[in-house]
Amino acid sequence: MKLQLKDSGLLRTQAFINGEWVEGDAGERFDVLNPATGEVIAAVSSVGQAETARAVDLAEAAMTEWKKLTAAQRAEILERWHGLILENSDDLAQIMTLEQGKPLAESRGEVMYGASYLKWFAEEGKRIYGDVLPSPSDRRSIVIKQPVGVVAAITPWNFPNAMITRKAAPALAAGCAILLKPAGETPLSALALAELANRAGVPAGLFNVLPSNSSSKVGGEMTSNPKVKKLTFTGSTPIGKLLMKQCADTVKRTSMELGGNAPVIVFDDADLDQAVQGALVSKYRNSGQTCICANRLLVQEGIYDQFVEKFSAAVKDFRLGHGFDADATHGPVVSQKALADIDAIVKNAVEQGANVVTGGKPSELGNCFYEPTVLTDVNDKMSIFGEEIFGPVAPVFRFSTEEEAISMANDTEFGLAAYVYTQNLGRIWRVSEGIEYGMVGVNETAISSEVIPFGGVKESGQGREGSKYGLDDYLETKYICLGGI
Ligand code: SIN
Repeated sequence: MKLQLKDSGLLRTQAFINGEWVEGDAGERFDVLNPATGEVIAAVSSVGQAETARAVDLAEAAMTEWKKLTAAQRAEILERWHGLILENSDDLAQIMTLEQGKPLAESRGEVMYGASYLKWFAEEGKRIYGDVLPSPSDRRSIVIKQPVGVVAAITPWNFPNAMITRKAAPALAAGCAILLKPAGETPLSALALAELANRAGVPAGLFNVLPSNSSSKVGGEMTSNPKVKKLTFTGSTPIGKLLMKQCADTVKRTSMELGGNAPVIVFDDADLDQAVQGALVSKYRNSGQTCICANRLLVQEGIYDQFVEKFSAAVKDFRLGHGFDADATHGPVVSQKALADIDAIVKNAVEQGANVVTGGKPSELGNCFYEPTVLTDVNDKMSIFGEEIFGPVAPVFRFSTEEEAISMANDTEFGLAAYVYTQNLGRIWRVSEGIEYGMVGVNETAISSEVIPFGGVKESGQGREGSKYGLDDYLETKYICLGGI
């Protein structure tokens, strides 16, 4: 597949440090593959520990002036970046589909979603308020908010654009500089964003992209360098835990957006069509590769058979295909390794007694294509109940009572997103309050946007991204006491 970019200048393959396009010191490059075909799309410069350390120094220096600008001045630059992303959205979507595989329409949606964070935080940055506290004495107590300092970000391949802007926009709006290590699978979207940031006038050193074939070298420097004050990470729970441990030595602030095991709880009194549609959208978005994808469909016994029938009929209608194929509703998974992991989960479930209603195996379309799958005859004793599938596989579990549904939903170390389908108002409250999740969708699974606080509890992470709360993660609270008044 050849890209048809209006602006070929967006296809960058070098690291972007301090406003310059540079090679890594060792002169190494790594291949980026198209998951739909296995073809090499580009060879991208690989950055190591020494370049990361230099980038941190330069970012720290760049912050000195940036944090002194008014919020309105910073907003103007972020708005320009936002505008350029919109102008170039077709090209950005093509680059994303090429390296990540998602259908072009989904890539376009992500580019718009990603851009929305820039607009939102450009505005929100103007509302960083302090406080004057009622004083118990002749002193006056004042609270001000200040940028946390140099931010390091490690971002995933499933949303190669939006997970970057969701971190960079609040960091920059708060007055911080940010260094970003994009996923090795999808560095081109990150580098295209850097090109546009540069054109928008983001000053040198404030937004840096450090692609690398060695996560440990870049990540190791990011987590140990005392000049980095905060690490923000989106990815798996095991890696998040490791990064938190590494950050402990320099007591860095961390934000962690980690794994999930989202239940979609469908009660007998739900609007069946609405529940089926919501579960489909959530389960198969990005071919099942989001942290908030439905991972377990929990369906009450009275509606179970009808649900399975309607749900699997819709899944059978999906068109698996290359992301550039206009008819494709769903694309490949990101890599052969991802596909092997998904296949192992399904095989294991089948060995434990699961029934494959549809799918259940790799597709002949290519090495990274997995057939959209529905499994029944699954239960909470099986390993699939506790695993984050991260692929197009829907196990449909059966439950009897509301208490059982809540208990099944909570029977996991994860707590990112959950969804509930019911028409009963009391039940909406009881279940929403009773389940241990950071986000709950009631009769809705498309819950993400720039205005909402995205984040989880338990081992799904800490901190919130987006919304009015999303800036807090990039700000320190300082108390100033005025005496002798
Ligand atoms: C994620 O997979 O964590 C991001 C999903 C979203 O922002 O909707």
